[in-house]
Amino acid sequence: MRLTVIGTGYLGAVHAACMADIGHEVLGVDIDADKIRALADGRPPFFEPGLRQILTRNIGSGRLRFTTSLREAAEFGDVHFVCVGTPQQRDSLAADLRHVDAVIDALAPHLRRPCLIVGKSTVPVGTTERLAARLTELLPDASAVEVAWNPEFLREGYAVHDTLQPDRLVTGVVSSHADEVLRAVYAPMLEAGVPYISTDPATAELVKVAANSFLATKISFINAMAEVCDASGADVVTLADAIGHDTRIGRRFLSAGLGFGGGCLPKDIRAFTARARELGVDRAVAFLREVDEINMRQRRRTVDIARELAGGTFTGRRVAVLGATFKPNSDDVRDSPSLAVAAAIHREGAEVCLHDPEGVDNARAVLPALRYSPDVSTACQDACLVLHLTEWSQYRKLDPVALAAVVRTPNVLDARNGLDAELWRSAGWTVRALGRPTPGRQPVHVTIPHAAGLGWAAPIDAGRLS
Ligand code: UDX
Repeated sequence: MRLTVIGTGYLGAVHAACMADIGHEVLGVDIDADKIRALADGRPPFFEPGLRQILTRNIGSGRLRFTTSLREAAEFGDVHFVCVGTPQQRDSLAADLRHVDAVIDALAPHLRRPCLIVGKSTVPVGTTERLAARLTELLPDASAVEVAWNPEFLREGYAVHDTLQPDRLVTGVVSSHADEVLRAVYAPMLEAGVPYISTDPATAELVKVAANSFLATKISFINAMAEVCDASGADVVTLADAIGHDTRIGRRFLSAGLGFGGGCLPKDIRAFTARARELGVDRAVAFLREVDEINMRQRRRTVDIARELAGGTFTGRRVAVLGATFKPNSDDVRDSPSLAVAAAIHREGAEVCLHDPEGVDNARAVLPALRYSPDVSTACQDACLVLHLTEWSQYRKLDPVALAAVVRTPNVLDARNGLDAELWRSAGWTVRALGRPTPGRQPVHVTIPHAAGLGWAAPIDAGRLS
């Protein structure tokens, strides 16, 4: 089949390369000419393991090409995948759909033959219907053009794997024709046994935000438990292991720490909150505000513990920060909790030296005032505190004995619970972590007798509704 992929960011570039890899002829489209030139040369404009190889292979075979022309795309494609960004609006919680709308408006005048437009970007429920109505206004005969939604669940860092071997495929369609076309696009995956859920567009749109909301809730749940552990002297890692053995709960996404960031989870739960308000069901998802608040609190808690470890102030203190990206195996610093913490302690007067295996260029573009070091040892030189903020696997392998020799004071805050605390302590380090007891340190808690003032403590009678 002849597919176009419009928008070649983290989602679109990987989708285009993978669709070519399973045998389709693919044209990747973007308005950014530099990005298109790089992709056409087989150079991904961002770090994603395995992407370069799959780009090169499919460009070489002639199945994958790139262009900046939507006219060329309209002439070429049977199916147009829309993969442009839907960031958070500047002045509200809602998603900014201007890129999606712009693609539809710019593509429509060139559409001369029947085709299927398939949105993959994360959008508020109701978007497919709205775009279909828009096409009816723009096209003299809109009957030959259909809109469907096919949300993408890939994780950065595993994007190629997740695209070629997804847990499931979800499509939202209004006709059996669109269903058949999408089944043909994904035929190799269906043959491999990937579960395929074909539903209506509204459900498909909601599946994506519901999945991300659930994942965000799971992370904030365990981070809330970490706060309780810090107040009570319990250990959140053991707790997560123990509850995670219950197969109804599962251990994945129960890693307590600095919380979630990136281009998806934070903005998706906010956009969902905004859309629910428009639909008059904001109470139904009010808990997502708390999920967001718990998540942001991990950043403040990390800064507070770091300040305590630095001796009560950051002024004039040298702090080494390990990790800038929002998660390992990515160079993405969008809404990175690590960078938020680094920026906050820098604002409070610390001299911050940051190391990251892949994210330094992107971090420097956002925070040019920080110092950056190409190696961990130089970043830690004369530091009074080391902050472990993104759990790159190489940080787990660091030699704490060697690092103790270069720092001024061997203090480390492991905000991702990724270091071997015993090993670091045996090398002379003071180790603090989020939600884990520190030997010799009493938990700090405030005791309020009998949950006084909670207001809803009375037993609930049968038949009572409030
Ligand atoms: C997420 C979804 O997982 C993916 O399905 C969707 O398509 C896009 O959003 P991604 O943003 O790439 O993917 O990252 P993910 O691996 O989900 O991690 C998100 C954030 O949560 C990271 O900041 C990570 O550090 C944090 N996280 C994850 C935790 O703090 N604890 C965990 O247990 C898991």
